[in-house]
Amino acid sequence: MIQQHINILNEKLNTLNAEEIIRHVHEVFGTKILFSSSLGAEDQVITHMIATLKLPLRIITLDTGRQFSESYDLLQKTTARYNIPVEVFFPSHHKVEEMVNSHGINLFYDSVENRKLCCNVRKIEPLKRALQGMDAWITGLRREQSVTRTEMDYAEPDNLFGIIKINPLLGWTEKEVWDFVGEHKIPYNTLHDKGFRSIGCQPCTRAVMQDEDIRAGRWWWELPEMKECGLHKK
Ligand code: ADX
Ligand code: SF4
Repeated sequence: MIQQHINILNEKLNTLNAEEIIRHVHEVFGTKILFSSSLGAEDQVITHMIATLKLPLRIITLDTGRQFSESYDLLQKTTARYNIPVEVFFPSHHKVEEMVNSHGINLFYDSVENRKLCCNVRKIEPLKRALQGMDAWITGLRREQSVTRTEMDYAEPDNLFGIIKINPLLGWTEKEVWDFVGEHKIPYNTLHDKGFRSIGCQPCTRAVMQDEDIRAGRWWWELPEMKECGLHKK
């Protein structure tokens, strides 16, 4: 049933540009859709579109507790620039305490299993809470970003959360994202000027060389096919 709904939705979304996709899914899902922003360049483009289209669409972000201070500065700048609220979701302090006290503060470097546990506690569980009661969520995923993302559609079943995931910038190139950011003077994370192309938590993100993969700096000690925090598992 959900797949049939997704197929029909994709037929329509395939004919629309990113702004039209956002407007259309807002019409279809009403208050049952939200946008989850990591404050990455793609997500800043989507926030700009939501704000300029004046859509009353909820924007949320997950504060894992391990973000760069530059990311907090950007959150502050973004709400000020667009005069819109961005809801912040935090991990359960009980779960963080239990995890850190049994596995160590930087547990993620010890094993993929520990890294996934941390992403689960700090990102997936809070996102699950944020998505309660929603039928769909919008993300800034692009096909080009990773070997794990090349087969995606504008609308996808999200088996983890049991709802629909909408990816309006799916076909955009990195250059198109940055051209749009420049043209509209959209606030962006200043770490991008220091060689960071994809930004997540501070201990799990490093700068990359121009000829390296865009996500080479995320969980750089792991293999490319392992590099999903679990928010976007197929
Ligand atoms: S991740 O899975 O590797 O962390 P990535 O950073 O590429 O994901 O972001 C992909 C999309 O996941 C973002 O466009 C956003 O929709 C969502 N996302 C990732 N991190 C966060 C976060 N901290 N808060 C809210 N949404 C996030
Ligand atoms: Fe934890 Fe790193 Fe995942 Fe952030 S990216 S939640 S610090 S493992």
